[in-house]
Amino acid sequence: MPTARERSGPPVVLATVTPGLEAVAIAEIIETVAGAVIVSTSRGKVYARIPALDPALTDLRTVDNLYLYLGEVEVGVRRVDLSALGTAVASLGGVIGLFRHRESDWGDSPSFVVNASRIGKQAYSRFDAATAVAQAIALKVPGWTNATPAVIHTVARRDLEDEGDAAPRFARSTVELRLDILGQRGVVGWRLTPPSFRFRGQVRAFAPGSILPTIANALVRMSEPRNDDVFLDPFAGTGTILAERATTDALAVIGTEIDSDLIPGLRPGRVGASAGGSPVFEADARRLPVRDGTVGAVVSNLPFGRQVLDEDAIVPLYIDAARELRRVMSPNGRAILMTTRVDVIEAAMGAAGFVGEVLTTISLNGQNPSVLRYIRV
Ligand SMILES: C[S@@+](CC[C@H](N)C(=O)[O-])C[C@H]1O[C@@H](n2cnc3c(N)ncnc32)[C@H](O)[C@@H]1O
Repeated sequence: MPTARERSGPPVVLATVTPGLEAVAIAEIIETVAGAVIVSTSRGKVYARIPALDPALTDLRTVDNLYLYLGEVEVGVRRVDLSALGTAVASLGGVIGLFRHRESDWGDSPSFVVNASRIGKQAYSRFDAATAVAQAIALKVPGWTNATPAVIHTVARRDLEDEGDAAPRFARSTVELRLDILGQRGVVGWRLTPPSFRFRGQVRAFAPGSILPTIANALVRMSEPRNDDVFLDPFAGTGTILAERATTDALAVIGTEIDSDLIPGLRPGRVGASAGGSPVFEADARRLPVRDGTVGAVVSNLPFGRQVLDEDAIVPLYIDAARELRRVMSPNGRAILMTTRVDVIEAAMGAAGFVGEVLTTISLNGQNPSVLRYIRV
């Protein structure tokens, strides 16, 4: 029979984050949640002990999802170990307590799902593990529908539709458990945040090259925002970075974008507005409609990879855009730029008179763009 470790003491939350952005998320958690102590971190995950389940958690803008740590179980690697795994998870006091606690909220047809991830050499898939755990739980919680895994996509979609523009909040329409198998250890958590949390309560807007608001927020934080910033994203896309920058004070937050279809209201010669209401001008980043030496901070997700049809166009684009940034930025201005073409941007920014460094490399839809910080000297 596998051994289990119950959760004890103050709550521990798992914050999931885009791999490569853990350090930014840690800084934000410590700054935002009073008394938070980081207990461990690994790629894409930050565990923090907090004095209580603080509503300030929902103010976090660099994390994708939050889970409450419920306990750990020992995990066997053979298929025959699966039923013992299920029993061990279903026997955790935190798991069963959770169902009792939630039952009254869900009326006649409460449902739950189990998601699993797996690292190591097990003879079964993560779906097998999730199913085994869900079946064991279902036996203990009569009246609850096991929605694992077949209808999980339906549940997620329903949550998005239900929540519409509503502000992110803890409550959601199903209980979602998470099992992370790391070799012979299984960590069990309860998902606190709805799917719309990382999309700021909106249904996701799809545009080629657009990044999650959580990534945009991390990039903005790397620019060390100041309330006297004139802030520019010259490759604004749908305005995700502008919207995140607009959540804290600045003298001005503006963007430019060459494709007028991406921003509502943006038409040739007209000014559109990003999600946060910041003005976006239809303009070429190589010829910005901005006066010399006026911009103090730039954050931009540059065109790269599949978004650019002609790879050869990248080199001249980066050279010309870097030269234009040099013109519009003030001395000591900061620029945070993200691209997979590190060699090209380093050469272009160096030639334009910037000094810089690679801050981190992230995982993004199968690509690994780097984030670079530059100072205009
Ligand atoms: C990687 S995307 C940026 C996406 C944005 N961060 C978002 O989340 O929506 C790069 C953007 O640069 C735009 N672009 C490409 N060449 C440009 C140019 N010369 N001047 C201005 N924008 C350009 C593309 O249309 C695209 O929207």
